[in-house]
Amino acid sequence: MTELKVLITREQITKRVAELGAEITRDFAGQQVVLLGVLKGAAIFLADLARQLDLDATFDFIGVSSYGNRPSPSQELKSGWDSTGEVRLTKDVDQTMKDKNVIVVEDILDTGLTLTYLKKLLVARQPRTLKIAALLDKPSRRKMPLEGDYVGFKIPDEFVVGYGLDYAERYRNLADICVVPRV
Ligand code: IMP
Ligand code: MG
Repeated sequence: MTELKVLITREQITKRVAELGAEITRDFAGQQVVLLGVLKGAAIFLADLARQLDLDATFDFIGVSSYGNRPSPSQELKSGWDSTGEVRLTKDVDQTMKDKNVIVVEDILDTGLTLTYLKKLLVARQPRTLKIAALLDKPSRRKMPLEGDYVGFKIPDEFVVGYGLDYAERYRNLADICVVPRV
């Protein structure tokens, strides 16, 4: 792997996450929320966002995999990938979502397949409200008509790592968001 180029600095992330936190705090003033993180990529974003909320909040986590449809990481890097839309639940929530204000926290909104699947699954559990917070958004990659309610940054079609996002499970611990060069 060659060197990574910084796309979004840790300072930019901190500032934007604080703005999103303030917006969510305003929207849910006086109410309870469930922050529902999508493992594993959203873990760091959830941890930072949660501390910017002046709200009564609980955490839960859900795991999904589209692994069966993805090519090898190097292939994904070269040419992107075409999912057949098959998403699999690997870990379900621990608490009931019924009548809760659920905010799904995701690292990146790409084709939209994952969140479309999750939204359908969660709506069936009758939450009071269901919102999507995504740190990053690659609108040019979208295959499903889906938008985030709270979006940190819109980015071009690049493969990014850091701040929770991985390339073959590595680089999640980088403090900045970096582009992996397409070789
Ligand atoms: P979607 O179902 O295509 O929207 O996929 C979203 C998931 O794909 C994210 O939760 C990430 O795990 C993964 N993903 C998409 N783009 C990137 C990227 O640039 N870097 C790392 N992971 C990505
Ligand atoms: Mg992910």
